[in-house]
Amino acid sequence: MKKFVYMDAAASWLKPQSVIESEAGFLRNLYANAGRGICARAGHVDALIDEARGKVADFIGSNKENVVWTSGTTDSFNRIVNILKNTFVGKKFTVAVSDLDHHSTRLPFETCDNFQTLLLPLDKDFNIDVNNIPIADVYVITAMSNVMGIAQDISEITKAIRSQNKNAIIIVDAAQFVVHSKIDVKKFDCDFLCFSGHKIGADTGVGVMYIKNPDVWAVDKFGGGMVNRVLEDKLVLNKAPEKFEAGTLPLTQIIGLPYAIEYCKNWDGATDLIHYMYDELSKMKNIKLLTSRDSVLISFVSTDMHVIDFGAMLGAHDICVRVGNMCASWIHKRLNIDGSVRLSPGPWNNMDDAKYVVDVIKGLVA
Ligand SMILES: Cc1ncc(COP(=O)(O)O)c(C=O)c1O
Repeated sequence: MKKFVYMDAAASWLKPQSVIESEAGFLRNLYANAGRGICARAGHVDALIDEARGKVADFIGSNKENVVWTSGTTDSFNRIVNILKNTFVGKKFTVAVSDLDHHSTRLPFETCDNFQTLLLPLDKDFNIDVNNIPIADVYVITAMSNVMGIAQDISEITKAIRSQNKNAIIIVDAAQFVVHSKIDVKKFDCDFLCFSGHKIGADTGVGVMYIKNPDVWAVDKFGGGMVNRVLEDKLVLNKAPEKFEAGTLPLTQIIGLPYAIEYCKNWDGATDLIHYMYDELSKMKNIKLLTSRDSVLISFVSTDMHVIDFGAMLGAHDICVRVGNMCASWIHKRLNIDGSVRLSPGPWNNMDDAKYVVDVIKGLVA
């Protein structure tokens, strides 16, 4: 079989065997729809989904009713915009965003007339500046940028926000953070927190949207599974989290998610690989590093080759990395560049991979 050096964990993880086996076993032996059938098989699937929800709740320090299944972080953020709009009908919000944001977490607000965006300042190291938090109704906190790879101090940031406006609505994007740092939603004191399953080894199509007070929010979707009774003049909705889960859930992906979480929790990161590659790259005169040595990934540019060409040349050596603006144009604009090259190792990479990547890059920039 052809061997690729896949070093693009920040885009999506390769899947651990336990995830593949749990999903295959479910599809082979247990599959049925959840939340609607009364047959024993459907009831068993309900129990499995409930168990998975409990494991996710434990993982982030919440209760089951606060964990809503979505299809991913992008879906969650688009849904949050509609949840806010439907709860406060006609209200105009100010929303503080930052240049660390991924397109998926900022554009849904920027493109909606109900929201006027303002910027959370960054300090000289491109971290959110807790000493200069602006006043806003809503805050989007990117817990870890997919370009800079440094965990933000969420508790400190939310403390600084709440010291000015204790009722602020704080939304945390933990899509990258979840892999590398512990989530504790109570300590973070956020109103929403989102991550995608596929970035921690689960399948695509499943995401988690934590909601602190699910009962106070209006729903954004209607359909099967979320409504208890349809009366002449009103709908009686199910309790949270089901009221936010209209339609058939990504059952197979949900079944695999706790296995991914377990696997990810037991991974110590790739610090030795990062340090080796970082130190070697920092000796190359045509490479400009954008990240610090303690980042969980390495972003860089070549001073004499376009990033797309760089990616293509690495690809020609079967090295798979991400190049371009990484759906994070604002941080690139701030760095005065259009895009970058990103090395983000995962648990499947080893030191041989790191040495091979360094040798190939050495050959490219020599
Ligand atoms: C920081 C960050 N936020 C959000 C997203 C969006 O995640 P998804 O594409 O799984 O919805 C990504 C994906 O790269 C990301 O890196």
